[in-house]
Amino acid sequence: MSKLIRLGFLGCGNIGGGVWHLLDAMHDEILRRDGIDVRVTKALVLSIPEARTDVPRGILTERADDILTDPEIDIVCEFMGGEQPAARFMQRALEHGKTVVTANKMALALNWDKLDAAARASGAGLYYEASVGGVIPVIRSLTVSLEADRVTQVMGIVNGTTNYILTRMTQEGSDYADVLADAQRLGLAEPNPAADVEGFDAAYKLSILTSIAFHTRVPYEKIYREGITGVTAADIAGGREMGYTLKLLAIGKRTGDEIEVRVHPTFLPDSHPLARVDGSLNAIFIQGDYCKDMMLQGRGAGDQPTASAICGDILYAAMNADRPTRPSFANTAEADPALTFCDDWRCRFFIRAEVEDRPGVLASVAATFAGEGISIDSVRQSSARDGRAWITLITHEAQEKAVRRAVAAFEGGPVRVESVIRAEG
Ligand code: HSE
Repeated sequence: MSKLIRLGFLGCGNIGGGVWHLLDAMHDEILRRDGIDVRVTKALVLSIPEARTDVPRGILTERADDILTDPEIDIVCEFMGGEQPAARFMQRALEHGKTVVTANKMALALNWDKLDAAARASGAGLYYEASVGGVIPVIRSLTVSLEADRVTQVMGIVNGTTNYILTRMTQEGSDYADVLADAQRLGLAEPNPAADVEGFDAAYKLSILTSIAFHTRVPYEKIYREGITGVTAADIAGGREMGYTLKLLAIGKRTGDEIEVRVHPTFLPDSHPLARVDGSLNAIFIQGDYCKDMMLQGRGAGDQPTASAICGDILYAAMNADRPTRPSFANTAEADPALTFCDDWRCRFFIRAEVEDRPGVLASVAATFAGEGISIDSVRQSSARDGRAWITLITHEAQEKAVRRAVAAFEGGPVRVESVIRAEG
C-alpha cells in the first residue's frame, strides 16, 4: 500500500519550479521504488495573476495560512529565500505539526533555535540538506555517517558565485570588477552581489555546518567574515608564482573547547584537493579523529541539483515521520558558555608589498616580522623599477594578531603593504 504525502510550497520560483519538475518526472518511479505518492497540493505566490510558474494555477494561493494551517498538508517546502517572512512561516508550519524542508541558509542560521524548538514541541521534522553545498550530502554525512567520529575541521568552498569569479580571475589573469560584471551579464552573479561576494552566504552556511560538525551551536555572529571584493589579479598571480591557488573558504576548527570560525579569501597549495575545485562547484573538506581526511564535491546551486537534495529530504522525512532527525546539541541562540571562540588563530600569511629598492629594506622587513615572532617561509622580489620593487612572501604559521601588528608597524615607512591574505593547507 502506498503512503500519500501532500506538499505545500512556499514560493514557486526557480527552486520551487525545479522541485515541481523533478517530482512530476519521478512521481511514478518514486511510488514504485519507495511506495510514496508525493503530491503538491498548494503553492504560495505573491500574486496569482502575475505568477510565472509551471505549477498548475489551480493550486496557487496568495494566503500563507492556506498552507501553514491546512491539516491536509504533511510537508511544507520553503523556497522564498531571505530571512523574513520565510522564518516566521516555517515556525508557524512547525507549530502546526508540519515537517519543513528548506534550502534557506539565512533563515535557518539566524533562527535555528526557534525552528528547532517548534519542531521538537510538535514532533515535526526540520530538514535542510540543500542549505549547505546544494546537492552535496554534507549535512547527512555529518549527522549520520560521521556521528561516531570527532570532527576537528571543516573547510569548504560553499559559494559557487565567488568560486566562479576567482576561477576566472585565476585562469584569465582578469580583474575582479571585469569578471563580476561578466558573471552578472551571464546571470551567474546577482545584480546585487553583496550576499555572495562579501561572504555573508558562506558565513550562514559555515554556521550551520560547524554547529553540526562540532555538536554545539555556532552562532552566525561568531564568524569572522571577509569577502573577495579586495582581491586583485596581482594577488592571484603572486600566489600562482609561489604554487598557491586562491579560494574563498569557510573554515571551522575545533580543539577541545576552543572553536575558530572564519570566512575569507585563502591561498591553498596547488596540491590541496580544494585548490582543484573550479568554476561554480562546491566542495567540503572534512578532517576527523577517525575518518582522517575526506572531501565531498558537487553542485552547490542550480534548480536541478538543489531539487535533488530537497526531494531527498522530502522522501527521507516521509519515511521517518515517526522519528525525525534532530541536532545532537542544545540548539540555543547563544553559544555554549563553556566554549571560547578564537580570534587570534594561527595560519600562514601571504603578504605583497611595494618597497623602496635600497640596501637594508628587505632586512628591515625580516626584522619587523622577527620582532613579532613571525618566521618567513619563502620570498620573491620582482626586479626594481624607478627605485621601487615588489616583494611577495609567505610566512610559516603565525598568530593573526602578530601579523596585524607587524603590518601596522610598516605604516608610513619605506614598505607599503598592499595585501595580506591567509593561507591554509
Ligand atoms: N548564491 C549561492 C552561491 C547559491 O553562489 O553558491 C545558493 O546558496
